Amino acid sequence: MLLFPVSQRAFMATPALAFRFIRRAAAFSSSASVKWEGGVSLVQGASRGIGLEFVKQLLERNDKGQVIATCRNPNGATGLLDLKNKFAERLDILQLDLTVESTIEASAKSIRERYGSLNLLINASGILSIPNVLQPETTLNKVEKSSLMLAYEVNAVGPILMIKHMWPLLKVGGGIGTERDVAVVVSLSARVGSIGDNRLGGWHAYRASKTALNQLTKTVSVEFARKKDPVICILLHPGTVDTDLSRPFQRNVPEGKLFTKEFSVQKLLNIINNAKSHDNGKFFAWDGQEIPW
Ligand SMILES: NC(=O)c1ccc[n+]([C@@H]2O[C@H](COP(=O)([O-])OP(=O)(O)OC[C@H]3O[C@@H](n4cnc5c(N)ncnc54)[C@H](OP(=O)(O)O)[C@@H]3O)[C@@H](O)[C@H]2O)c1
Repeated sequence: MLLFPVSQRAFMATPALAFRFIRRAAAFSSSASVKWEGGVSLVQGASRGIGLEFVKQLLERNDKGQVIATCRNPNGATGLLDLKNKFAERLDILQLDLTVESTIEASAKSIRERYGSLNLLINASGILSIPNVLQPETTLNKVEKSSLMLAYEVNAVGPILMIKHMWPLLKVGGGIGTERDVAVVVSLSARVGSIGDNRLGGWHAYRASKTALNQLTKTVSVEFARKKDPVICILLHPGTVDTDLSRPFQRNVPEGKLFTKEFSVQKLLNIINNAKSHDNGKFFAWDGQEIPW
């Protein structure tokens, strides 16, 4: 709450002056009350793979900063539970299934009540193959409606609903408490989502769902800029990384091109920590190179 001394109440009788004063006072009040030094980061899809490594490095690279990790089954997320033992004060684990919007809303509510703001949202979840359910297509003959819909639901619809529900918290957070000027939304995309870069074909459902994620995130970035929100969105390709997702497809990866999670996340965090307003709506690879749409 802002309290105005008597001397200021008189000149606030002029609406224009009053408006300028309130704006200055509000700006002062938000910069003066850095509630979460080091910021508040949310990693969605944190049970394993790249998401889990993000949580680990966010906690280990700084000695300040709160991290919220979400996953479908917190009790089975052993990697996260190990981190919780080590960083009990700085890590919160919340249940969230991207395909169930009420769990996204419940997480947003819980973060609002506990922290009141967010400075970083990383959408790290993604699906490429699920035994007996989803297989990357090698030919048009193998394209199935159910695969297209599932990939679209998890890889494109879920991340955008995350951004929608976390938006109010990101607007409050901006860059406050961090070394950035803005809050950052990161959606993990994939180079195969690039239409301009599509030379091999195949993997219709995964490719097209990542293309949709790119378009949805880009669209959101335009609105954030238009509204002058202190929030930017970027899409990141992590490289080919040694995780469960890539394991069945690693045979053809050229030597030296299969990255460890540690290496990839180090590179991605460098991009995120140095992100500026002019990066809003861009699609970057792990090495900072822009990828064509
Ligand atoms: N690895 C690569 O080479 C590579 C390359 C390019 C892009 N990417 C992208 O990078 C991101 C991370 O991939 P990764 O390699 O770390 O994959 P991963 O090891 O297979 O992990 C996938 C994560 O997504 C979560 N997830 C799946 N469905 C979900 C849902 N409905 N709701 C919430 N979470 C869900 C999984 O949770 P559960 O444990 O509950 O299943 C898991 O935490 C993905 O977006 C992927 O497309 C990866």
